[in-house]
Amino acid sequence: MLFDTHAHLNDPKLFSDLEAVLARAKQAKVEKIATVGYDWASSLMSLRLAEKYPERVYAAVGIHPHDAKNWNEELEEKLYHLAQQPGVVAWGEIGLDYYRDRSPRDIQRQVFKRQILLARELDKPLIIHNRDAHSDTLQILAEEKAGINGGILHCFSGSWETAKQCLSLGFHISFAGPVTYQNARNLGEIAIKTPLDRLLVETDCPYLPPHPYRGQTNEPARVALVAEKIGELRGMSTEEIATASWENAHQVYKILLDR
Ligand code: NI
Repeated sequence: MLFDTHAHLNDPKLFSDLEAVLARAKQAKVEKIATVGYDWASSLMSLRLAEKYPERVYAAVGIHPHDAKNWNEELEEKLYHLAQQPGVVAWGEIGLDYYRDRSPRDIQRQVFKRQILLARELDKPLIIHNRDAHSDTLQILAEEKAGINGGILHCFSGSWETAKQCLSLGFHISFAGPVTYQNARNLGEIAIKTPLDRLLVETDCPYLPPHPYRGQTNEPARVALVAEKIGELRGMSTEEIATASWENAHQVYKILLDR
């Protein structure tokens, strides 16, 4: 069984056909899906989906660095309340994005730190988005003791050095479609070196479809291809990767694992 630890079922591309998307996921043995917010509306929708599909869909709520510029006290209060509802398993996705720079960098850092603090108060693990901001991300994670409740470096894109530091701070490393791309040698090596008990798989759908579906709308069913590729790289079966990442996902999201 597979756990897609990072999906955006709240995206119109998936939401408009959600029953079929979930049926295809089930067929591919993707039994659980975390749907992740990036602004207020998507966070609220994540919670609604978790309520509608209990023990199948889980929610994460948070403000993406792109939207950091819209942070204010009212939003903070609403989000803090939302994060305490049953079905919310993490705070995210939050972090830094110096690639698109849609919010000023100092605001991104401020809002990132603030959300780490709020998540810590609520004992929530974090889902971290980091694009072209490796050293600032690491510095903030370390300074703010962000790993205290665990968390995930989602769609990991850094070096092995960065990965090692994130692991030592208590984070899990999650791999998405890019690990299947032919030019992804560096990422492949990190997928080999990451300890099996810290490894997760995700789709980040509707984005980042794995090979050979590039250019199409991604969906949770395709997380199986990510697990298959990592198995191939590590000389393990898809099932072994599925089992390990399934258990890890339950651990990091603090979801009871019934055996
Ligand atoms: Ni995402």
